[in-house]
This record gives sequence, C-alpha cells and structure tokens, in this order.
Amino acid sequence: MYRVIQWGTGNVGREALRAILDDPALELAGIRVYGEDKDGQDAGVLVGRAPVGVRATRDVEEILATEADCVCYMPRNVDLDDVCRVLASGKNLVATPFLFYAQALADEDRARVEQACREGRSSVCGMGIHPGLVGMVLPLTLSGAIRRLERLTIQERANWDFYDSPRITFENMRFGRPPQEATLEANPFARFNSDLFQQQIHLLGAGLDANLDEVSAEQTLVTAPADIEVAAGRIAAGTVCGQRYRWRGQAAGRTRIEIEALWTLGPDYPEAWPRPRDGWTITLEGDPSLRTHLITLASFERRDATIEEHVHSADVVTAMQAVHAIPSLCAAPAGLRSPLDLEAPRSAQGFGASRVTPNV
Ligand SMILES: NC(=O)c1ccc[n+]([C@@H]2O[C@H](COP(=O)([O-])OP(=O)(O)OC[C@H]3O[C@@H](n4cnc5c(N)ncnc54)[C@H](OP(=O)(O)O)[C@@H]3O)[C@@H](O)[C@H]2O)c1
Repeated sequence: MYRVIQWGTGNVGREALRAILDDPALELAGIRVYGEDKDGQDAGVLVGRAPVGVRATRDVEEILATEADCVCYMPRNVDLDDVCRVLASGKNLVATPFLFYAQALADEDRARVEQACREGRSSVCGMGIHPGLVGMVLPLTLSGAIRRLERLTIQERANWDFYDSPRITFENMRFGRPPQEATLEANPFARFNSDLFQQQIHLLGAGLDANLDEVSAEQTLVTAPADIEVAAGRIAAGTVCGQRYRWRGQAAGRTRIEIEALWTLGPDYPEAWPRPRDGWTITLEGDPSLRTHLITLASFERRDATIEEHVHSADVVTAMQAVHAIPSLCAAPAGLRSPLDLEAPRSAQGFGASRVTPNV
C-alpha cells in the first residue's frame, strides 16, 4: 500500500484524487490546495463524495511533514523549490505539468532535482496525456512492432473552445492577447510549455537511438479576423486565436522526430495549416510503417454524454496516467525516471470495481 499526497485539486487533480481514493493499492495521506475556499475541506467533499477524514491544507510545511510515499503534483504553475523539497523529504513525485524527461532540463535545474532525489532517496517523473501517453508511452510501445525507423511524427489537433481551464488558455497561453505578447520570446509560459514538448523529443531520441544533434521549436500565431465569443471567454479581432508549434529533432540535417501542435479557438481554421483529424495522430515511417489516431471521449456508447464530459475525458486520462504510474515509480531506483525505465501504466481497477464510492 502506497501513501499518496494529492497536490492541486483542479480539473486533473480532482480526477487523480478520485482515483487515489478508489485504488486499493493507494491510501490518501494529504492534500495540498491553493484556494482559501478549499483550505480545511475534506477530500471526499472536494470530489462530491462523503467525507473520508483527510483534510486539505494550504500549508506546505504540513504537507512536507506528512509521511507519504508519493506526491501527485498537479498545480497550474510549477515551483521547482517545492518539488525539490518534496523529493528531499523522501517522497517520490509524479507530475503532470513538467519533468517529462528531466535529463533534458537546463543543467542547473537538473542538478538540483538530482541532488534532491539523492538526499531523499526518491524518484521523479512526469506523466499525462500529452506530454505523456501520446508523445512518450505510445510511440515507444509502437516502435516495438517495427524493425527500423526513418521518421516519427506526432500531430495534436485541438480546438480549445471548451477546454475547462480558462486561466491556462488566456493567462498562460495568451490566447486573446495581441500576437506580440504571445510569442515564444514574450511569453515565459509558452517557452516553458514548448520546452516540455522538446523534452519528449529528447526522450524519444534517447530511447530510439536517433543520435539527435539538434532539437528546435517553431511557432506560428494566427489572429482573429473578427470578434469571437467562445465558452471560455472572448477573443477580440486582431488578437491570437491560433497557435501552431513544430518541435523537431534532427540528426545530420534530417528531421527524425517531429511533434506538431495545431491549437485554435473559434470556428475558423487557418487555410495554410495541415488538417489532421481532431486528437492525436502518431506516424512511424519505417520498416514497416504504422499510423494510429487517438481520441478521448467520455464514452463511445453513452448517448447522453455532454460535450463538457467529452472534453473533460482528456483530463481524466491525464490523471489516470499519473496515478497509475505511482506503484512503478515508488518501486524504481532513486533519481530521474521516465517511460524509458518505468512500466507502462495500467488500469488499477480494470473491469473490476473494488472500492468505488458513488458520487453524492
Ligand atoms: N501532461 C498533460 O497531458 C497535461 C494535461 C492537462 C493538464 N496538464 C497540467 O496539469 C496541471 C493541472 O491542470 P488542470 O487542468 O487541473 O488545471 P486547472 O483546472 O486550471 O487547476 C488549477 C490548479 O492550480 C492550482 N492553483 C491555483 N492557484 C495557483 C497558483 N498560484 N500556483 C500554482 N497552482 C495554483 C489550483 O489549486 P486548488 O487545488 O486550490 O484549486 C488547482 O489545483 C497544469 O499544470 C496543466 O498544465 C498536463
């Protein structure tokens, strides 16, 4: 049984909390929240269930002093000091916002994380849907079915209209702002986010023997021709309504690995952009070649699922990948871990329903 602290109870964090409560191999040890309104609330109540006797706190010292095997780290903005303190306190940490391939962090940051892991004899990894499942776990697994690779491409096509985190959309990603404020140079979050996708390229390059000598990022911004009203807010004419990224890993001048993101808000789609289907398309060109397309829905069968439930399914996938990585991470040797050396996460409940508490 692993004792787990849930850090952050947003869209993803609440799903992780549910999964921890439902997993017979995990025990909830604590909850770190940011909102004053959530301070002191019971974990069960936070996810619409009966109380379970574990209260949320905003006090980081209290969380650090809590005995636990793992922290499930899911805040909107990351704090490397907090992460290093958690690791040095002897707790492993699985994160959805970053640390997907910590080996590729800037030298100083990587050294700090490694030192914290040594101090606490703990290990750390990042997990999620993308980055995570799509850009690390699936391509590595698919590569096991082919002899040799020429090129690996991953395309993510998403309309952000219904994405349930307006602060990430508008504050962090700067949709709805003048383009000069949303460039990689002007927006630190865009740089941070771009770096996460580049980490996946470094990981794939290392895991698939690509011998990459360059990993690069290219950003294209598109502005709205007229005012647009979307569920999450308003995009004024002339402000950013589309962001395209191309992250490339090259070896000897040839692109070996490319991850592309095609993100828009509003009904229009830029003429000049490629048009993959919504979701994620993974193509391995080689001997032989494979292509797979992934989408997440609340259900393929249930007719009454709402668009919000369908959109939220990606948050659930993100949470599940992280929670299901906990046993493997806790059992791993101390240090920087990734899908290259962890077991692929597998459903804890599977078809069974050992400890599920109904929502109230
Ligand atoms: N890898 C992936 O595939 C993937 C996919 C989706 C999301 N993510 C990442 O996972 C994280 C959680 O996403 P989400 O959709 O749950 O976000 P969200 O719904 O916007 O949740 C916000 C979270 O941030 C916390 N928060 C509030 N103020 C904060 C502050 N000043 N500094 C840091 N955190 C603060 C909230 O605290 P309370 O607990 O008090 O509400 C809540 O836990 C984000 O970093 C997101 O980028 C990764």
